[in-house]
Amino acid sequence: MKQYNVGIIGATGMVGQRFATLLENHPWFNVKVLAASPRSAGQTYEEAAGSRWKMAVPMPESMKNMILMDATADIEKIAGMVDFCFCAVDMKKDEIKALEEAYAKAECPIVSNNSAHRFTADVPMVVPEINPEHIEIIKAQRERLGTKRGFIAVKSNCSIQSYVPALHPLRKFGLKNVLACTYQAISGAGKNFETWPEMVDNLIPFIGGEEEKSEQEPLKVWGEIKGNEIVKASSPAITTQCLRVPVSDGHTAAVFVSFDKKPTKEEILQCWKEFAGVPQELELPHAPKQFLNYFEEDNRPQAKLDRDLEGGMAVSIGRLREDTQYDYKFVCLSHNTLRGAAGGAVLLAELLAAKGYFD
Ligand SMILES: NC(=O)c1ccc[n+]([C@@H]2O[C@H](COP(=O)([O-])OP(=O)(O)OC[C@H]3O[C@@H](n4cnc5c(N)ncnc54)[C@H](OP(=O)(O)O)[C@@H]3O)[C@@H](O)[C@H]2O)c1
Repeated sequence: MKQYNVGIIGATGMVGQRFATLLENHPWFNVKVLAASPRSAGQTYEEAAGSRWKMAVPMPESMKNMILMDATADIEKIAGMVDFCFCAVDMKKDEIKALEEAYAKAECPIVSNNSAHRFTADVPMVVPEINPEHIEIIKAQRERLGTKRGFIAVKSNCSIQSYVPALHPLRKFGLKNVLACTYQAISGAGKNFETWPEMVDNLIPFIGGEEEKSEQEPLKVWGEIKGNEIVKASSPAITTQCLRVPVSDGHTAAVFVSFDKKPTKEEILQCWKEFAGVPQELELPHAPKQFLNYFEEDNRPQAKLDRDLEGGMAVSIGRLREDTQYDYKFVCLSHNTLRGAAGGAVLLAELLAAKGYFD
């Protein structure tokens, strides 16, 4: 496989640090640029991020002495040094939109963790096992932007990465109504228990903007390319409640679902067991071998025990049973900063590389 030079925009942040650790020994991607705000630019990665390193594994040796570039002032220079960049920055939505478009227009493709462009009609929002064909909209996006190579592709929000994969293979039974309550880890807010001690022995029943994302993003992921845009699916009807819970990593969702044509429990289990997507077919480096994993035990999946399944890239499901108001209910779990954030973006980049979008 061809080798690609890559940059990490927002390298000092929580998601950026995760990118650094995931890319350290990547078989295709070589990190050549680390960039952050003007506050960090000019310092080594170790000077800028060493004291706020939040990963369980140490900062990659090969990156410690890299000098951070300025993500906004150095766009042209960075675009000349890499084949594409990952992006995860904490800035205002309009600023992120403009920043990502400036990179794309400088012919540097962007694979983004940010929400800013998730509803731009010609920007694909991809869960690689579910809607890999949406990357074909990039042709239309390039025409709009007037670019040859440059484009923006995004991953979806971490909250939907556990229940949408579990529901996806069941679409053939006609998903009608979905109710999902999510129990979201504190790393999703860029925090751990040291930096957010108020979360010990606590639960907060509100995560700004999360319920809207959780209800709307699945419909774009299940949408269809029509002309120059991705048109959202019109069903299922989805309602959610998103709670912050005292868990370090791993978002759990309690899901209730009704179908047009109610399947049997055995049919659902079979669908989950047999489901594989393009990442599995292509054997992409970060693709889990078994994407959807059903646990028979009543007390699984558990965040602490199961979030790291297949390097944090698999989804765990349990407790499938009939419900008195919906057809079925079940519980599912995914690692929010791996599958749900940087890992999901790395898998998307692998799909784009395998399909020639960085050439
Ligand atoms: N945490 C998660 O699990 C998660 C999941 C999905 C999506 N996301 C999204 O990913 C993005 C980053 O999240 P995070 O948790 O990693 O945030 P974070 O830890 O606060 O890191 C923010 C990063 O943005 C950089 N930055 C801030 N202002 C900038 C500017 N003006 N120009 C260039 N860079 C700037 C920071 O650089 P300095 O260090 O120099 O300030 C830092 O590298 C957000 O859009 C978030 O919504 C996060």
